Amino acid sequence: MDWGMRNRIARMFPARSGNTVMLAVDHGYFMGPTRHLENAAATIGPLIPHCDALALTRGVLRTSVPAGAPIPIVLRVSGGVTILQEDLSHETLTTPMHEAVRLNACAVALSVFVGSPHEHETLASLGKLVSEGEEAGIPVMAITAVGKELEKRDARYLALACRVSAELGAHLVKTYYCDGFAKVVEACPVPLVVAGGPKLDSEEAALQLAHSAIAEGAHGVDMGRNIWQSPHPVPMLKALRAIVHDRATVLEALGIFHGEKEAIAARTAAPA
Ligand code: 5RP
Repeated sequence: MDWGMRNRIARMFPARSGNTVMLAVDHGYFMGPTRHLENAAATIGPLIPHCDALALTRGVLRTSVPAGAPIPIVLRVSGGVTILQEDLSHETLTTPMHEAVRLNACAVALSVFVGSPHEHETLASLGKLVSEGEEAGIPVMAITAVGKELEKRDARYLALACRVSAELGAHLVKTYYCDGFAKVVEACPVPLVVAGGPKLDSEEAALQLAHSAIAEGAHGVDMGRNIWQSPHPVPMLKALRAIVHDRATVLEALGIFHGEKEAIAARTAAPA
């Protein structure tokens, strides 16, 4: 691996732990104005200092992230279908590698839909993107998407989808946490990060998910809705960082969450 590629990976996975807290804000590319992401700039701005990388599209990057923000960018480069369609797998490459270079991306990301009607096209896109990424020194993150079929998130399916992605050359894989996740990790020779999925009932449940994933070998999270759909996104990110970087327990992370929440409330209530 050349220095540029290693440097980009090191920037996303800081040496403090070798893990990452990636903030996913790329939902609009097929879901439109997702709840709490309607005004992307307002949501993202306060969270930038508390995450290790931002995962988003070129549209939101150009319109909603200050060019001076010192944050590695994971650029989503696939799309082409919306939630109005039954089959979400009909994706293609929507942003070329030379634009990722122009945008100074640290990595590019695309969804692969293993076992879906457009499996072949999305896997072929992954292969093409990896070849271009190797040329440019930009790592590729494959996202093992499940479309609307959330029940597909079992260890057997995810191990297959992650392994295929790594075999086709993905440098990183984003997947879901599942029962038996350690088996998914064991069968995947490149670092895995986990998505959060739809908003869970509580912050504790999301922290538990992250804790289990790290304990079973994930190299971090690429989480969205369970952070910015929480009424307390900054405390949530700080609690997640403790789990991902410092191997905090869920109880310790919850303590950080509540402490940060109270500190923010006290600052807001304090007279000027
Ligand atoms: C959207 C994605 C999201 O980035 C991914 O699902 C992570 O976000 P969340 O934690 O909200 O699931 O790939 O297609």
